[in-house]
Amino acid sequence: MDIKFKDQSPEKLKTPLLTIPVKEQGLKDPVIRVLDRLLKGRLSERIERSRFTGAQGSTLLYPTEGRLPASHLLLLGMGKEPEIESHAWRKSAARAAKEAIGLWAQEIDFFLPPFGDVSKISGPIAEGALLSSYQFLKYRSDDRRPQPLRTFNLVKPGFRRTSETDRGLRLAQELTPGVFLARDLINEPPSISTATYLAEQALQHCRSQRVKVEVWGKKKIAAMNLAGLLAVNRGSQEEPRFVMIRYQPQGKPQKKVALIGKGITFDSGGLSLKSSKAMETMKLDMSGAAAIIGTMSVIANLQPKADVTGYIPTTDNLPSGTAQKPGDIIRYLNNKTVEVLNTDAEGRLILADALALAAKEKPDYIVNLATLTGACMVALGTEVAGIFGNDQPLVDQLIRSGREAGEKLWQLPLVKEYREDIKSSVADIKNVGGIHGGAITAALFLQEFVANRPWAHLDIAGPAFTDKENALSTKGGTGFGVLTLLKFLEGL
Ligand code: BES
Ligand code: ZN
Ligand code: ZN
Repeated sequence: MDIKFKDQSPEKLKTPLLTIPVKEQGLKDPVIRVLDRLLKGRLSERIERSRFTGAQGSTLLYPTEGRLPASHLLLLGMGKEPEIESHAWRKSAARAAKEAIGLWAQEIDFFLPPFGDVSKISGPIAEGALLSSYQFLKYRSDDRRPQPLRTFNLVKPGFRRTSETDRGLRLAQELTPGVFLARDLINEPPSISTATYLAEQALQHCRSQRVKVEVWGKKKIAAMNLAGLLAVNRGSQEEPRFVMIRYQPQGKPQKKVALIGKGITFDSGGLSLKSSKAMETMKLDMSGAAAIIGTMSVIANLQPKADVTGYIPTTDNLPSGTAQKPGDIIRYLNNKTVEVLNTDAEGRLILADALALAAKEKPDYIVNLATLTGACMVALGTEVAGIFGNDQPLVDQLIRSGREAGEKLWQLPLVKEYREDIKSSVADIKNVGGIHGGAITAALFLQEFVANRPWAHLDIAGPAFTDKENALSTKGGTGFGVLTLLKFLEGL
């Protein structure tokens, strides 16, 4: 999609769809008045009849029937907050783009109103337009596919480019492919998107001058004593992989960051087998890994000043005669022992290896992403990820990055008292807690492996996958986490 600025008055634009964002009670804005005058009052009449007020998220589509050079007007309600959050712009652009596709229009003109600061909003608007265009059609054979949007114009009378506006557009175009890659990896069927496949994809999409990718096979994983990954992999016909993706900035790095993603390519539960219903979406269980691969595939376009290493433990989790059994004990490379009481709590088992290994490098920050618990979904639903951490500034920074990226993170507590729930009688800890607070006991389990380094854990079980299409994503993998991580890295 071609995204560009256009210095023109909206009423003169010959376009299939002219989009005008309006604030609540902002229907007397000059641009609306000009258009209404040209339409001889029909627009205000229509606004009144439809009771459109500009409330956040509301839209009004108006066909001009040849009375204006633009064939349709789309009014987008932006709400009445004094300052509109960047995500509202992202969503409104996505809605406008979807509307254009519905009209079979290949071009759209999006008016940048005076109440939005161009240098701040054009990046998110471009992101919204791009994100809404994602489709996963490689397995569909129906032929009536809507035409993709070809051109998205940002219209601003008297517009003058600055390095900031250019950078916003460039980054939107260069970073959204990272989200798309994550979505593709998640949407791919689980018998294709295996550990071997993920490693190959990481090599194919991340390797560049500044980014090195290293893939460990089963032998090396055993030699490095990644005991959790081996234990979970025991039931499988597929080999496990451990992938490391390292970006090094030009000059001396400011900070060292470890990013870790859960890469369970299919979670059947293992011998603690899930129900068939619960398994239906379990190809999503590598969404944490997908977010890291997506992020690392575009990191060189962002050029953060930090040294960033992605760590991805990956395997499927299946039952068989060789599978690990409830009651088995794993000894980790930091010498901690874990009693496996439920083979369906496998994410924490493979993350423990990666956390312990990453902590040995003494990074300034460790951030892990994982579709870890159903309990986190129960607590926060499908729009919001849980975030836990032992370092409040790091957690705060990630929450802020999430807000800018349009990805909601809500902090949940690492309740010390619940540490009791993961005590084992035969090993140091066990891999399940009690019936309550499952997202918290999972996080407490992970904390055992971070060697007190500043660490944050994002439980993305809810937002990683959507069963309803929305403006910014189709059904399936959302790529949640990629934009948050990139914002976070940009700020280091
Ligand atoms: N992959 C699941 C968590 C999950 C559930 C993600 C639903 C997305 C949607 C994880 O491995 C799991 O099975 N967790 C168990 C833990 C329990 C056995 C302690 C759960 O949440 O039920
Ligand atoms: Zn599981
Ligand atoms: Zn899982």
